Amino acid sequence: MRPADGGFDRTLTHYGDRGFSSFVRRAFLKSAGYDAADQERPVIGIAHGISDYTTCHRHMPEVVEAVKRGVLEAGGLPMAFPTMSLPEILLSPTSMLFRNLLAMEVEELLLAQPMDAAVLVGGCDKTLPGQLMGALSADLPFVALPVGPMSSGSWEGRRVGACTDCRQTWQRFRAGELDEEQVADAQGRLCPDSGTCMVMGTASTMACLSEVLGFGLPGSGTPRSGSGARLRAAVATGRRAVEIARERLTPRSFLSEASFRNAITALYALGGSTNAVIHLLAIAGRAGIPLSLTDFASLTDDVPVLVDVKPVGTRFLGDLDEVGGVPVVVRALADRFDLSARTVTGQTWAAQVADVPGVPPWQDVVRPLDAPVKPAPGMKVVFGSLAPDGAVIKTGAADPRLLKHRGPALVFDSVEEAEERLSDPDLAVTPDHVLVLRNIGPVASGMPEAGSLPIPTVLARQGVKDMVRVSDGRMSGTAYGTTVLHCAPEAAVGGPLSLVRDGDEIELDVAAGRIDLLVSEEDLRARTPAPPPSWLATTRWRRVFTRSVGQAGTGADLVD
Ligand code: FES
Ligand code: MG
Repeated sequence: MRPADGGFDRTLTHYGDRGFSSFVRRAFLKSAGYDAADQERPVIGIAHGISDYTTCHRHMPEVVEAVKRGVLEAGGLPMAFPTMSLPEILLSPTSMLFRNLLAMEVEELLLAQPMDAAVLVGGCDKTLPGQLMGALSADLPFVALPVGPMSSGSWEGRRVGACTDCRQTWQRFRAGELDEEQVADAQGRLCPDSGTCMVMGTASTMACLSEVLGFGLPGSGTPRSGSGARLRAAVATGRRAVEIARERLTPRSFLSEASFRNAITALYALGGSTNAVIHLLAIAGRAGIPLSLTDFASLTDDVPVLVDVKPVGTRFLGDLDEVGGVPVVVRALADRFDLSARTVTGQTWAAQVADVPGVPPWQDVVRPLDAPVKPAPGMKVVFGSLAPDGAVIKTGAADPRLLKHRGPALVFDSVEEAEERLSDPDLAVTPDHVLVLRNIGPVASGMPEAGSLPIPTVLARQGVKDMVRVSDGRMSGTAYGTTVLHCAPEAAVGGPLSLVRDGDEIELDVAAGRIDLLVSEEDLRARTPAPPPSWLATTRWRRVFTRSVGQAGTGADLVD
């Protein structure tokens, strides 16, 4: 019996003899009830992240079942398997420490286990980017499918959502506007059901961008978790996975630089998460497509925010879905978008939006280019003496008055120090200060979402809502404020942040694309950099991570 090239004979085990490896593998498959007819079908591996810890994935089992149904209907054999699940809110110190580990696991399992194509079922924050990175490295045909967002909640007569309103609630509590009872009540309202954060946080942003890049079927990025539309997207995804297994259509074969330019354009129009900058850089790197922060900077100015979803806008991802989802956004962006980019459907975006007549006039969740939510893009890449290799600011969620600002630095060496001092009622700080947090870059601490430092309690009580904040870390896509993030090189590898001292003048000029430390080079040369922390080196993975992770400007992927 001669082993075939595909199906269960793909990637045979090294038992010394290919024929024996195939024979014994099939004997074990029979033990699980897969007969000879089953074993001849195209094998579709379904990677999922079902875990009690990942509350956002609570409906994932039924999504996986729906994918399996689609695979079976199309004549394939579904083989579901778990990969590590990354619950954003329950992982300490930060889920970002594990994105690359998930990518590595997905890559290895897609290569090691026999399958002709894969379906990636992800959702919570880092899961989809990690899966995409791994699957692109494995270079198998695959379709990506997010689990879908939560519905919006309702509290005190307002629609609320995770986690933009979680932050606002907490900020109001710190400012003394809400009491403990009110906060406890809000806690039960902010995350009303299963699914990913329903504002335009990282999960929503990446679900939409995965669709824009062509990894998922059109319209599959936005349906709510638990909805019929989500299950129908899953069935269709399963069917398509069998077709691409037969066609041997790998995403690397259709991805192009245009796909990523489109993704950047969509990111700005969505008012999306700054984390997507890092993920897109890493995903492009895995696909072998050149992409740098300069590409993000050069595309910035002529893409307004078109999608009215929090935190830049006012609505939720389910609202975007109801008016047509990503295909409508692509249609709205047609003048800024390269519609010749191809997707996992085998079609171009032009063909995929041929039936979308335009931005529906009866709604205002997605706006046309001439009547945007905000005239400027939702974020901007900046460079300067404080971030020679770049930084990112979410301009759409910042106080416009602070986008050009000069003020004295107030420096924190760690999250703990910042937390303690910012709640000190005697802290000497003014609204003009620039809060600087260093040692939260990738090498130092896995790059936690600690960059949106809270407003010092003393100022919050006076009604101050926003200040300029600068760090080498990230912030949640659900967060807001004038926060300059991802400063590179980070302090722990000797970046300029390591030299900043209290009282140094820092200037942010978003229009000019600059973030500068106004201290002479001569003075800086005379300074000793602040020592980096060493807390990460506590486990084997953390040691590997800290030794091999790259800087934010290259996607914080592992560097060979
Ligand atoms: Fe899972 Fe926000 S915590 S997507
Ligand atoms: Mg997040």
